[in-house]
Amino acid sequence: MAIAELKKGDVKDIGLADAGKRKIEWAQQQMPVLELIRKRFAKEQPLKGLRVSACLHVTSETANLMIALRDGGADIVLCASNPLSTQDEVAASLNRDYNIPTYAIKGEDNDTYYSHLRAALEHKPQFTMDDGCDLVTMLLTKRTDLVPNVLAGTEETTTGVIRLRAMAKDGTLKYPVIAVNDAMTKHFFDNRYGTGQSTLDGVIRATNVLLAGSKVVVAGYGWCGRGTAMRAKGLGADVIVTEIDPVKGIEAVMDGFRVMPMVQAAKEGDVFITVTGNKNVIRREHFEVMKSGAIVCNSGHFNVEIEIPALEQLAKSKREARPLVDEYTMKDGRKIYLIAEGRLVNLATAEGHPAAVMDMSFANQALSAEYLMKNYKSLKPQVYVVPENLDREIARLKLELMGHKLDVLTAEQEHYLASWNEGT
Ligand SMILES: NC(=O)c1ccc[n+]([C@@H]2O[C@H](COP(=O)([O-])OP(=O)(O)OC[C@H]3O[C@@H](n4cnc5c(N)ncnc54)[C@H](O)[C@@H]3O)[C@@H](O)[C@H]2O)c1
Repeated sequence: MAIAELKKGDVKDIGLADAGKRKIEWAQQQMPVLELIRKRFAKEQPLKGLRVSACLHVTSETANLMIALRDGGADIVLCASNPLSTQDEVAASLNRDYNIPTYAIKGEDNDTYYSHLRAALEHKPQFTMDDGCDLVTMLLTKRTDLVPNVLAGTEETTTGVIRLRAMAKDGTLKYPVIAVNDAMTKHFFDNRYGTGQSTLDGVIRATNVLLAGSKVVVAGYGWCGRGTAMRAKGLGADVIVTEIDPVKGIEAVMDGFRVMPMVQAAKEGDVFITVTGNKNVIRREHFEVMKSGAIVCNSGHFNVEIEIPALEQLAKSKREARPLVDEYTMKDGRKIYLIAEGRLVNLATAEGHPAAVMDMSFANQALSAEYLMKNYKSLKPQVYVVPENLDREIARLKLELMGHKLDVLTAEQEHYLASWNEGT
């Protein structure tokens, strides 16, 4: 693709833009914290002239973040951070209505996915906003000529933060990055309630399975796993958790779930959901003992949590049973269903996290970008957390805008909590 062509973005069908605009406006109503930030950014222009390359799930919530940054003065291009998570109508509207070149097509093959990342880097970013660290990895390994321009960046998800910390450790990271994921107002809410709700939404939309009375196996009891298990229980499922960490394991037990190794859970489960950030969590030995009709999906960042090559080898045939649901027939006649090729189920077959929760995650993104532009000169090429005052301010605003009020300490209570000699 020629660069001149790439500057206009690359979307499935620009004719979808009207539907995309409606979707973006719908999400905007549920993102009041981000809207406050956008309005202030429009006045203060904290990102004036800043070239930003963003690699995020191209959803209506992301569109609102892009608009807030643009209104703050940023010159942005956006590409997809996953081949299956793009909302094509939103991508079309960002290009046509908001003048934000967007390179994203739902279902794009790997070559197109990487060509879109390359296109985003052609923007010669001074700032990167990544989700999963694919853009930054390409920048630091294949476009090292661009690295001297980059002042700072942010990272949205757990898996990206893990990759960045490894890069910082061995000296590969060349500029400061804020781990937005690690903000309290991000992972406590987005990973838990956002992933929890939208993952089950994805399973239901893809299969229409009845979860009440089903055995749902959740692999990983981190932030995403807790939310997924909690919501599956709420829908009446008998939830089994698999873990490798004893503390998370005991937490799952005390939250009322059975905990067992996957090889045992594989025999029992009707629906399997991986959310570990690890690889081959469901693999050959597990497929071999699954019941016929088992549904398998992933809501962790990469499509490596389920060993799909093993499933392909074990199967004698494969067909599409429903949109984005592949039916694998094993040699012994059992059928195993894989949703969305093992890619993020909540984004591939549902709409990703609800806007109301992304309001806080993306408020963190916007405020972190502003903070980095003020402070990058004094920061090292390391991974930083979101400053606590910003994190707490986002929580305060969200609570207030949701119509709730906190109590306040009396002077006597403040004194009591600050002293060591009042305990008796
Ligand atoms: N679907 C989404 O929209 C979405 C949203 C946020 C995060 N994520 C992704 O989800 C994944 C999990 O994120 P998180 O914030 O919950 O991380 P986390 O670190 O809080 O939890 C991961 C858990 O998986 C466990 N684990 C690791 N290997 C395992 C194995 N082999 N078997 C069982 N458990 C294992 C770990 O002990 C840990 O408790 C990451 O890839 C993250 O990027 C997805």
